[in-house]
Amino acid sequence: MRILAIESSCDETAAAVVENGRTALSNVIASQVEEHKIYGGVVPEIASRRHAEAISAVVRRALTDAGVTLNEIDAVAVTYAPGLIGALLVGVNYAKSLAYAANKPLVPVHHLRSHIAANYLCHPELEPPFLCLVVSGGHTHLVDVQDYTTFRVLGKTRDDAAGEALDKAARAMGLPYPGGLNLDRVCKNGDPTAFRFPKPRVDGAPLDFSFSGLKTAVLNLLHNAAQKGQTLSTEDLGASFQSAVVSLLCEHTLAAIKETNRKTLVLAGGVSANSVLRREMKKLCEKHHLRLFVPDLPLCGDNAAMVGAQGYYEFLAGNRADLTLNAYATKTIE
Ligand code: KG4
Ligand code: ZN
Repeated sequence: MRILAIESSCDETAAAVVENGRTALSNVIASQVEEHKIYGGVVPEIASRRHAEAISAVVRRALTDAGVTLNEIDAVAVTYAPGLIGALLVGVNYAKSLAYAANKPLVPVHHLRSHIAANYLCHPELEPPFLCLVVSGGHTHLVDVQDYTTFRVLGKTRDDAAGEALDKAARAMGLPYPGGLNLDRVCKNGDPTAFRFPKPRVDGAPLDFSFSGLKTAVLNLLHNAAQKGQTLSTEDLGASFQSAVVSLLCEHTLAAIKETNRKTLVLAGGVSANSVLRREMKKLCEKHHLRLFVPDLPLCGDNAAMVGAQGYYEFLAGNRADLTLNAYATKTIE
């Protein structure tokens, strides 16, 4: 079964053709990063306009690259939540029109479910159940993936997402957007023990996260140094901050593994590209005899192949949308 998938939840306009949920026949991404860079972050209004301009060409290219016509597609899948509402609406409306015109079933896909499904494209042997740490720009979730379409959230962030904290810290240090990625690149040789950070805990919810205190700690360090006319080493400060974020992620993930007794850990989302997180999670899994799966680097960030992968399992579970499908800025993965 071939699915044409569309993704427009943030600043990538993406389309892909995916076979049986596991093989990407094409995966086209038109990134808007350069456009948002001068503002230091994604400007929602600009994102929506660029999606509207790019989407037809991106979808056409996905079909051409896959060597199939619209008639040879069995269903259209689209990200409908969560994300920037104006951005999501472009993809949702395009997908609705296409499904209607071509008389194909329409499958709604949750963005975080699709990030998890990116792993199905890289690891043919991976099947639920497993524990997944979803770390993106907008979300930090510990999810028990019981089945391809059954999810239980064990813990999540109470304030900033891990990616958001990395982006904001990077920005305060003067690094360009996208901050998390640049922090990872710049701090490779920094000393992760140079600065100490607090270990925020959420009372009564040991699997929940809080990153805003860490972000404030970086801002305070930078302000205090500036007031004294000192400059801090970006390499060391960044490496210490990344290490603080990663150790929180590792500790909570281990607690969730113990609670669920799962033997397989999966990472998903843009921050799963982080080299420190990948390295530390590998160590953790070796120590505790767990299987670890991480997406290939090009599939960590937003793309449509992952939407086609999850769309396949949503289709098998009977999930369909009609032409009243709407987009939602927030929606639980469950
Ligand atoms: O999943 P994603 O592409 O979009 C959302 O759904 O939010 O995640 C984007 C996030 C951004 O915060 C970006 O800075 C972060 O992923 N990111 C990274 C790296 N690459 C992307 N963070 C840390 N290290 C990286 N190598
Ligand atoms: Zn994403």
